Formats: sequence, structure tokens, C-alpha cells
Amino acid sequence: MFLPDVFVIIIPWYRNHNHFNLKEFVMSPQALPIVPQSSDDPLVKYAETMLALRAKASPVDDVLVEMEEIAARDNIPIIGHLEGAILHAIIAARRPQPTCILEIGTATGYSAIWMARAVGAACSITSIEIDPERAKRAQHFIKKAGYEDRITVLNGNAFDILPTLDQRFEVIFQDVIKHAFFGESERLALELLDLLLDKLADNGMLLGDNAFCMGEVLHENGGKLPKQVLGIKAYNEAIARHPRLDSVIIPVRDGLWISNKR
Ligand SMILES: C[S@@+](CC[C@H](N)C(=O)[O-])C[C@H]1O[C@@H](n2cnc3c(N)ncnc32)[C@H](O)[C@@H]1O
Repeated sequence: MFLPDVFVIIIPWYRNHNHFNLKEFVMSPQALPIVPQSSDDPLVKYAETMLALRAKASPVDDVLVEMEEIAARDNIPIIGHLEGAILHAIIAARRPQPTCILEIGTATGYSAIWMARAVGAACSITSIEIDPERAKRAQHFIKKAGYEDRITVLNGNAFDILPTLDQRFEVIFQDVIKHAFFGESERLALELLDLLLDKLADNGMLLGDNAFCMGEVLHENGGKLPKQVLGIKAYNEAIARHPRLDSVIIPVRDGLWISNKR
């Protein structure tokens, strides 16, 4: 089953509907509530309303809103406002403040901008994007948001670029393991995890999006999972079992992994 690369929120919805049968729900593709940026769940909507009440801190908010509109129009998979604000809160709360952050999967720079506004000017953010057109658009928006001195976009395949980076990072945000990219490959997902852990500083934090793979991690059919979820499932289990990681999935949107490396 091909699903467009858009967002889904299922967890808060089914949590609040006791009669709801999750298994039936995920087994029925047409029932998947695929939503570009948000969900119809009233509690998610309430959380977004509270976000919207925030005093506008800077013109960066206008850039982010513009990027959300373009992402919805052009079907660019960005993390969206709620997860952007969560990423911001997690990174802003870190002490000492991170000085170097790595992102895998820039798209148009939306999540990189959320991270940049969470840290001071002394923090550099390196973000890797395979698609040259997206990398170019990211550079445009990063400049517009005023963070061109803080964020460097590297255009290329993360598997080629990661081994060339001689630095270790205090925070890494992985936003590429999903079925649209290499969801079918357990080997690639685990290889990427190894590369990322190698680049993660001791006591560093690894964040990873799409732990639920649009709900498909639950989509078992006679004991078999759909192919496109194999990569994320292997990645999830490797993270969960890793002896040097303390990890938890925050069940917002498509599931956000937070792992602290001992
Ligand atoms: C979900 S999007 C990233 C969204 C972005 N983090 C945001 O929220 O604004 C994933 C991006 O990863 C890129 N990508 C996929 N495979 C990649 C790879 N092997 N190396 C680098 N980038 C890759 C895709 O082109 C896509 O733009």
C-alpha cells in the first residue's frame, strides 16, 4: 500500500475513544486519518490552540507559518508546529546548552529552524538533505529566518556524508527512517543507527521521528508486518534494547523517540 508522505496522529484519538478497535483501524487503510499538519482530535487541537496563543516572539514565526503553508501545498513532509514546539522545548531545556546539533533529513529547513531558535548563536547546526531542490529551498528559508550563520545544509546522502564528519554532536535529530525513504530495509535502518551513535557525544541526545510509521508498526497481518515498516521496526527495537541508551517514545503525532546516551 502506498501512502503519501504526510502526517498522521492516531494515538491521542484512539486513547479517548474506548469503543475504538485499534487493530481494525490500522488494518483498514482507508480509515487511516492522514492529515497534513494536524489532527481532528480535540485535545490535539486544544494543544495547538494554546500554542497559537503564545506571544509572537520573533518574525521567525511568520517564516515558519509560510513554510507550513508551502509544505501543505507541495506535500513536503515537515514535523509541523506541535512537534516543532516540542523539539524546541526539549532542546532549549538541555544543560549545558548544546554547541553542535546534527539533523538527518532537512527537507526545507523547518525543523532545523525550530532547533536553531532553541539554542544560542554559539551552537552550530549541520543538516543533511539528499534532494538538491529541497536543500536549496532550505537555504532560502534559513536565510529568511536569519539563521544562515547557525545552520549549514549539506546536500547529499547521509550514508556518504556521515563518515566524513570528524565532529561528535550533542544532539542528533534523525528524520529519515520512514517508509517513503528506506522503510523496507532493516539493514539500512540499523546501519544508520550505528553511524548516528558513532557521531553522538557521550551524554548526547538522539531524537528520531516516525517511530509509529503512520500506525503501521501495529499493522500485523498473520504475524507479518508490511514491508515498508520493517526498517522502522528494526530501528525501534534496536533503540529500545540498546545498553547505552535510555529511551522513550513520546506518543505525539507519528511518535518521537528521545534517547539519552550514557
Ligand atoms: C521527513 S523529511 C524531513 C523533514 C524535516 N526534518 C522537517 O521537519 O522540516 C525527510 C527528508 O529526508 C531526506 N532524505 C531521505 N533519505 C535521505 C538520505 N539517505 N540522506 C539525506 N537525506 C535523506 C528526504 O529527501 C526528505 O526531504
